[in-house]
Amino acid sequence: MIKVSIVGGSGYAGGELLRILLQHPKVSLQQVTSRQFANQPVSLVHPNLRKATDMSFVSPAKLEKCDVLIVALPNGISMSLMNKFKRKAKKIIDLGADFRLHDEGKFTEWYHQKHLSADLLKQFVYGISELHREEIKNSDYVACAGCEATVSILSLFPLVKNNVIESEVIIDAKMSSSQAGMSFSLSSHHPERSGVVRSYMPTGHRHTAEIEQELAGLNVSISATAIDMVRGLLVTIHTRPKEWITEKEIWKVYKSVYRDEPFIRIVKEKSGLYRYPEPKILQGTNYCDIGFELDKHTNRLVVIGAIDNLVKGTAGQAVQALNLMCGWPETTSLTFTGLHPI
Ligand SMILES: NC(=O)c1ccc[n+]([C@@H]2O[C@H](COP(=O)([O-])OP(=O)(O)OC[C@H]3O[C@@H](n4cnc5c(N)ncnc54)[C@H](OP(=O)(O)O)[C@@H]3O)[C@@H](O)[C@H]2O)c1
Repeated sequence: MIKVSIVGGSGYAGGELLRILLQHPKVSLQQVTSRQFANQPVSLVHPNLRKATDMSFVSPAKLEKCDVLIVALPNGISMSLMNKFKRKAKKIIDLGADFRLHDEGKFTEWYHQKHLSADLLKQFVYGISELHREEIKNSDYVACAGCEATVSILSLFPLVKNNVIESEVIIDAKMSSSQAGMSFSLSSHHPERSGVVRSYMPTGHRHTAEIEQELAGLNVSISATAIDMVRGLLVTIHTRPKEWITEKEIWKVYKSVYRDEPFIRIVKEKSGLYRYPEPKILQGTNYCDIGFELDKHTNRLVVIGAIDNLVKGTAGQAVQALNLMCGWPETTSLTFTGLHPI
């Protein structure tokens, strides 16, 4: 058994890590930290875990040595603590944004602050297994991707790899409330958040930098809209093929890249309610569903991608990387198919 601890275990990503890892046959959960809930039962904060664990949170100051440390802190904190974390565990998986960008200048440009551990940036592998499987297997440090970046990169990767589309890409992202984490503000207050279709970031989304890093050559524009959904993320991506292409050829491009991927599903059905990807049926799963349609009127290729932001977009992605880093089957503890109806 491998001893895994979670820093920031009372948050939404931490809760999903716990749910998945408590069923993992090779993992023994050692410690889960929280400042606010130290010494209180994990199930007090994550009530879905009642009877699944009798663990209590510990203060971050009491963090002991373990085999793998998973860090689920808000953005901007792990970069000041990473050297300390490295003394606690040989392998580290960070869910935040601090170590995703390899270029220090890009971090400053998009996060408007100086990086406090820039010397460590090059040690981290970007955590999307479908793109970096071999590097992750051989790495001790993984930085999981942002959820919006994850679904956008996976949706576009085969098209970029096969040189199918022009460089201009417009991503229309529909965001759920859990993406903001557990801390609350006026914008998450029920009368303000309930029922919204709120354009909250028509330009300037920070995940642009990650997508452009991973899909070199693209010029990415993201517009984000908050909608009335607790979990899930849908992107509708507008692109243009470089040359005339049929839907059948596009399907072949996706299949050639993703045929053997356990968590990528190409959704291309001619009819039916679920003929396009939809986050609702992905809740709790590690799948990324991808569909597409050619608009012959304007020669536009519309790509649609959906994930659960808290699973494929963060905790599931982290466990997928953990499985690779430890030499276990990549799908271990990630085979939940979701619920229907839900
Ligand atoms: N939510 C998503 O959909 C999503 C998707 C992709 C990636 N992520 C990434 O995952 C990370 C966690 O996100 P989240 O949504 O789970 O956030 P969250 O719900 O706000 O949880 C943050 C956790 O960190 C702890 N914490 C906060 N400040 C701390 C500090 N200074 N020192 C020690 N612990 C501290 C909090 O507990 P205490 O205050 O009790 O210590 C809590 O357990 C973020 O970096 C985020 O970018 C999240």
